[in-house]
Amino acid sequence: MSILNKEYELYVSVKPVRREIRVLGIESTSHTFGVGIVEYSGGRVKFLANAYSQYKPTSGGIHPRESFLHHVNNAPSVLRKALELAKLGIKEVDAIAVAVGPGLGPCLRVGASLARFLSAYYGKPIVAVNHAVAHIEIGKLVSGFVDPVIVYVSGGNTMILVQKNKKYRVMGETLDIPLGNLLDTFAREAGIAPPYVVEGKHAVDICAEWSREYIALPYTVKGCDLSFSGLLTAALKIARETRGDKEKLGTVCRSLRETAFNMLVEVTERTLMLTSKNSILLVGGVASNTELRRKFEYIAEHYGVGFYGTPPEIAGDNGLMIAYTGLLHYLYGLIKEPNSVFIKQRHRLDEEEYPWLP
Ligand code: FE2
Repeated sequence: MSILNKEYELYVSVKPVRREIRVLGIESTSHTFGVGIVEYSGGRVKFLANAYSQYKPTSGGIHPRESFLHHVNNAPSVLRKALELAKLGIKEVDAIAVAVGPGLGPCLRVGASLARFLSAYYGKPIVAVNHAVAHIEIGKLVSGFVDPVIVYVSGGNTMILVQKNKKYRVMGETLDIPLGNLLDTFAREAGIAPPYVVEGKHAVDICAEWSREYIALPYTVKGCDLSFSGLLTAALKIARETRGDKEKLGTVCRSLRETAFNMLVEVTERTLMLTSKNSILLVGGVASNTELRRKFEYIAEHYGVGFYGTPPEIAGDNGLMIAYTGLLHYLYGLIKEPNSVFIKQRHRLDEEEYPWLP
């Protein structure tokens, strides 16, 4: 079911506004070029448009230059589609939001250039959004969770976070490669991808169905931090020895997935115990993974806390989350001039204060 035209109560208090506020958000940090539009009125946020085009490598991983060219070629049609979906002209938009990082430099520049142009040419305020913060904010809005333990898992990030004193605080994170990157790299090197995802299932999940066996692999948890590189190396070594034996490769896939996901669940449980929060919010591209959600549903039930995994439509990279987080910035007066908006490839989400946080 589409998320478009759905309305959500804004959970933070802001000054009353006299009319509808519409924000257009641009996402271009990695493989997705997306434009989303949200509308705010009467304390409610409505999703008006979520248009996107995705660069899909035919071999290997994401090549920044190829992804950049994809974004350049598709930006005009995606922008047009978003405005069509929202039944709006660009002049009816109140502010332009753009993801300025973290992400791939060439890709980020496409979104930033378009945003600066729209802002300067049409005289619209511009808002710089942290991509990671946007993943979390849209999850909080849709779930209704105000102060959860946040598990942010994607191709480029793996973090366990809580909010305190107006900042996102990192309780634990990967010390080397992110979870999504672990799954993609393994699938590619083991010869089962690309495509990385078929009908919503990751190649590792499809492969895991070929076996019911489990073998022990390196499980590295340090406090609330995680390390996946030893797990990747060990799993790939065994995968190369399977020499086309489908069932044996299935065992490696199942074991890799179970080990990685259980590590993530362990640090989430620890954070839950340390902070006494009463809900878990799963966000980022890997939040769509059915098996990961099942594990979190299980522990949430075990501890009697709430759980919400963002739906696939907004779990991966999208312009809607940038538009919504841009709206929060706008309502709190965090507006910039077009010539002061720069990309930041390594834009950590715990660097800045956000006035709407508890
Ligand atoms: Fe992302």
